[in-house]
Amino acid sequence: MIVYINGEYLPHSEARISPLDRGFLHGFGAFETLRSYNGKIFMLDDHVKRLKGALHSLNIKPPRVIDNLQEILGRLLKLNKLRDARLRATVTAGHNEPAVLCTSGELPPYGEELYSKGASVILIDDPEKYHHGFLRIKSTSYLGNIMVRDEARRRGALEAIICHPVHGPIECSMSNLFIIEEGRILTPPLFLPILPGITRDVVVKMAAGLDLPVVEITFTRNRLMQCDEVFITNSLMEVMPVTNIDKKIIGDGKPGKITLEILNRYHKVVNNAAQDSGE
Ligand SMILES: Cc1ncc(COP(=O)(O)O)c(C=O)c1O
Repeated sequence: MIVYINGEYLPHSEARISPLDRGFLHGFGAFETLRSYNGKIFMLDDHVKRLKGALHSLNIKPPRVIDNLQEILGRLLKLNKLRDARLRATVTAGHNEPAVLCTSGELPPYGEELYSKGASVILIDDPEKYHHGFLRIKSTSYLGNIMVRDEARRRGALEAIICHPVHGPIECSMSNLFIIEEGRILTPPLFLPILPGITRDVVVKMAAGLDLPVVEITFTRNRLMQCDEVFITNSLMEVMPVTNIDKKIIGDGKPGKITLEILNRYHKVVNNAAQDSGE
């Protein structure tokens, strides 16, 4: 696999970071996970904007190459002979100056069955476990997110919904949370300590065209457990129906009608994007 590291395209076995890199030593950096469809990078500008925002919050001067991500990631896709892929751009505080690493790889195996039957998730009540997740930025200090996600996997679930002590269920370890209640789509608002997901944003805008009101509002755990449908979003899993939370069935236990309509529309949006923008 070829990676991009500080200006060079190298086989990953030859790529080196400094042992003094502050990303390695302190988790001091930020990253983006992106998705390509048919060789085209989806929502690139939004990802670049969020990455710059995160670097600004961390007081890391954004390296100029960030503005060339389209070219760098596009070249990586070609070098690695990938079209539908996951991509990652990482910027760390580095040593003396920021370091940039870009990688590409195969998509994670979210099997068809997950989408047709719906995923199981768990609830996490202990905010200590999540800690850095509450920073609202995609920092490379991802330990809290990873630990919570791994706990979900150990308990046979795909994801973990984080319950904030004040605001209730706010997002998942690596995805945003939506519920459907009496025909309305509810999702926690962005002033909460959640990541402003790019997929969340696409879904919110798309739902407007579905004549379904999207309400950005908090909801309690009880409301979550009693709602009609639940789904979660991120760039790689796209729109994932959730049919089981902490082993309790949500709705009628099948992916809901509105969720499937949103998933269907999301596929149309990405298919259009894959065809539209020039390579
Ligand atoms: C904590 C968290 N929330 C939400 C998301 C979804 O973000 P996006 O839709 O931009 O992939 C992610 C993505 O990894 C995340 O880490």
